[in-house]
Amino acid sequence: MAVLSTTLVGFLILAVSFLPSPARAQSCPASVTTLCSADDQCNYALEIPTLKMTLPVNPRVKAAEKDLETLEKTFAQLRLAVLRRNINQEVLNRLNEVANNLKAVRESLDGARERNVEVLHAGQHVKQDRDTQRGLKTLEESMDQKFTGLKGMLEKLLKTCARECSSDNPVSRGPPKDCADVYKTGLRENGVYSITPNINQDSVDVYCDMKSGGGGWTVIQRRMDGSVNFTRKWADYQRGFGNLTGEFWLGLDALHEITRRQDYVLRVELEDWDKVRKFARYGAFYVADARDKYRLHIDGYSGTAGDAFRFSDQYMHDNQQFTTYDEDHDKYPSGNCGRYYKAGWWFDACLATNLNGVYYHGMYTGIRDGIFWGTWHNLTLDDLRFSFKYVDMKIRPVTF
Ligand SMILES: *[C@@H]1O[C@H](CO)[C@@H](O)[C@H](O)[C@H]1NC(C)=O
Ligand SMILES: *[C@@H]1O[C@H](CO)[C@@H](O)[C@H](O)[C@H]1NC(C)=O
Ligand SMILES: *[C@@H]1O[C@H](CO)[C@@H](O)[C@H](O)[C@H]1NC(C)=O
Repeated sequence: MAVLSTTLVGFLILAVSFLPSPARAQSCPASVTTLCSADDQCNYALEIPTLKMTLPVNPRVKAAEKDLETLEKTFAQLRLAVLRRNINQEVLNRLNEVANNLKAVRESLDGARERNVEVLHAGQHVKQDRDTQRGLKTLEESMDQKFTGLKGMLEKLLKTCARECSSDNPVSRGPPKDCADVYKTGLRENGVYSITPNINQDSVDVYCDMKSGGGGWTVIQRRMDGSVNFTRKWADYQRGFGNLTGEFWLGLDALHEITRRQDYVLRVELEDWDKVRKFARYGAFYVADARDKYRLHIDGYSGTAGDAFRFSDQYMHDNQQFTTYDEDHDKYPSGNCGRYYKAGWWFDACLATNLNGVYYHGMYTGIRDGIFWGTWHNLTLDDLRFSFKYVDMKIRPVTF
């Protein structure tokens, strides 16, 4: 123990504590409250207690890591809340800055962990030379700076976001807004139902899965036999296409209207040609509006199929806008991922998953434009090519 503390002297020291406001003592550092006014305008209020950071003399990189995780989670919640409130571009830009800062802090921390291990490996009796000391000091200072900058930015952001809504009527009123509402009216059969996600707009026909995993699922996409062509224009992806009892895409406008009201879970079901079935569940799923090109917010993976939506920094579908062959909003500078991969999707540059790809009956060769899930057990990013036999995507309120 003595060895540890001398070797680690000078190691950086971080703690981030979220102090809840006195009125709301709770563990969640940020909370979003759903509010529906009569004119259906203001849907979310954001409440985030004061963010406070301290830098005590306590050399535990592990603890700093946990704090950073908390900060990253808060940030994800904050971003979702901001997206939902349709806050202006300036705020979104600042959010991106915060995201970059978080990434930098994460990298420094990873570096710190590695050096930590190095120092320990150097042996019990090795004294730190001046270089090591200086390195540690620099690291400490840069971490300190980054956290301070981060804190300032989050605080400014919160001021902008924390505007109050005028009305405080609770959510559940009127016609069903999704299949969970339909389920609550006592209906338990799988099939097509009519829902009204936005009371000021027409109702929408949807397929409800009332059986699997407790039911109440609004199915937003299904592939099962290749009978529907998914190489479609922007306008088709906006309003939806296909056959609700067969293959279909529900539509981006409906997806936005449904998910803007409350927090949703996404469940993806996949089956390959060897009858292997797996799933991916995401605790957060939200699709922004047309103005923001239906930007995806997806987070909180669990399941058996692997986290293909958030595969890596390089292949990240979270926070991407939607792209089709006639509307390019992807991260690929010299081409259109939608055209190349024959699908409408939330492409990065370009993909770790594409569930709207071409339906191939089994193996295929050439461009990997089939239905794709990059973490499948024997389907690596640069190896085999096969499409899936069955896929569906469905959503349900977190509170169901
Ligand atoms: C699907 O539609 C696209 C765009 O209209 C077309 O180029 C393609 O040939 C179609 N695919 C099939 C299999 O019909
Ligand atoms: C829709 O798909 C189902 C299942 O494949 C099929 O039985 C039905 O005939 C299709 N309906 C239409 C209108 O194409
Ligand atoms: C993929 O894995 C399954 C077992 O889970 C196996 O049956 C199948 O042959 C594999 N497919 C290929 C193409 O290697």
